[in-house]
Amino acid sequence: MPAIGQGTWNLELDDRPRAIAALRAGLDAGMSHIDTAELYGSGAVEELVGEAIAGRRGEVFLVSKVLPANASAVGTVLACERSLRRLRTDYLDLYLLHWPGPHPLEATFAAFLSLQRVGKIRWFGVSNFDVPQLEEAIAIVGDDVIACDQVLYHLRERAIEHEVLPWCEGHGLAIVGASPFGAGRFPSRASRSGQVLETIAAAHGATPHQVALAFLTRRPSLFTVPKAASPAHALENATAAGLRLAEPEIAMLEAAFPPAPAREGPGLPML
Ligand SMILES: NC(=O)c1ccc[n+]([C@@H]2O[C@H](COP(=O)([O-])OP(=O)(O)OC[C@H]3O[C@@H](n4cnc5c(N)ncnc54)[C@H](OP(=O)(O)O)[C@@H]3O)[C@@H](O)[C@H]2O)c1
Repeated sequence: MPAIGQGTWNLELDDRPRAIAALRAGLDAGMSHIDTAELYGSGAVEELVGEAIAGRRGEVFLVSKVLPANASAVGTVLACERSLRRLRTDYLDLYLLHWPGPHPLEATFAAFLSLQRVGKIRWFGVSNFDVPQLEEAIAIVGDDVIACDQVLYHLRERAIEHEVLPWCEGHGLAIVGASPFGAGRFPSRASRSGQVLETIAAAHGATPHQVALAFLTRRPSLFTVPKAASPAHALENATAAGLRLAEPEIAMLEAAFPPAPAREGPGLPML
């Protein structure tokens, strides 16, 4: 999987042409991982992605997610087929359970496996799972089957580093970091931590957003899906794939954006 993805969230109707242009600009610049979900815009974002990638399916690593409420054995298959229609394709590269929900995981995974057998999905994974939920998942399907856990991960939200990241690295799951720019609430230049970002960015002739992406993908297990409805942002994010931070720079960022102490009890922070 490429290191930088491209996500799309709820978009105003007015933004549609710009968002399609941004997705295509990202593809032109070599990004291939597009992350969407049936949740986003109640299917409208999948339709938008379908339009953006029409004629270019082979360039894309296409990811969508089933809503937990739909994730029964039959419901997952039906949801996947609806997503495929909206995305104008006959397969997904990766299909995720959006977060743990009311249906037994056994049922969701049985559906994922049957979708995989008939070629409608290539791989499957989970999202917003904490370690006990990941343990439960591999107890059902075994090791080396679940491709990833997609979880909230940005400079000011590093909770996954306590347990989820080491567990995933130990079990060979990729981490796909969601909301890498804090859903648009990026550290301001005026703040002390923002200044650390600025200093490192200046040393590389890069932008603070590019430095953030480089930090968030600093280990081989870490991927990220920045959302950009602006073509200029998509290009800037694609260029970050070539940026490598030195160990002292990583240490500076770790000190400037310390993770909150590990929380008691189950559940991960979600958007
Ligand atoms: N699994 C989950 O539960 C979950 C939860 C949240 C998010 N996600 C995934 O993560 C993706 C991204 O998260 P997000 O949508 O919350 O937001 P985000 O990527 O953290 O931030 C998006 C914001 O950053 C701006 N931006 C993008 N590139 C920029 C750049 N180079 N310079 C300055 N600003 C830039 C965007 O502006 P423009 O749009 O104007 O370009 C937008 O306002 C989602 O699309 C989704 O795929 C998953």
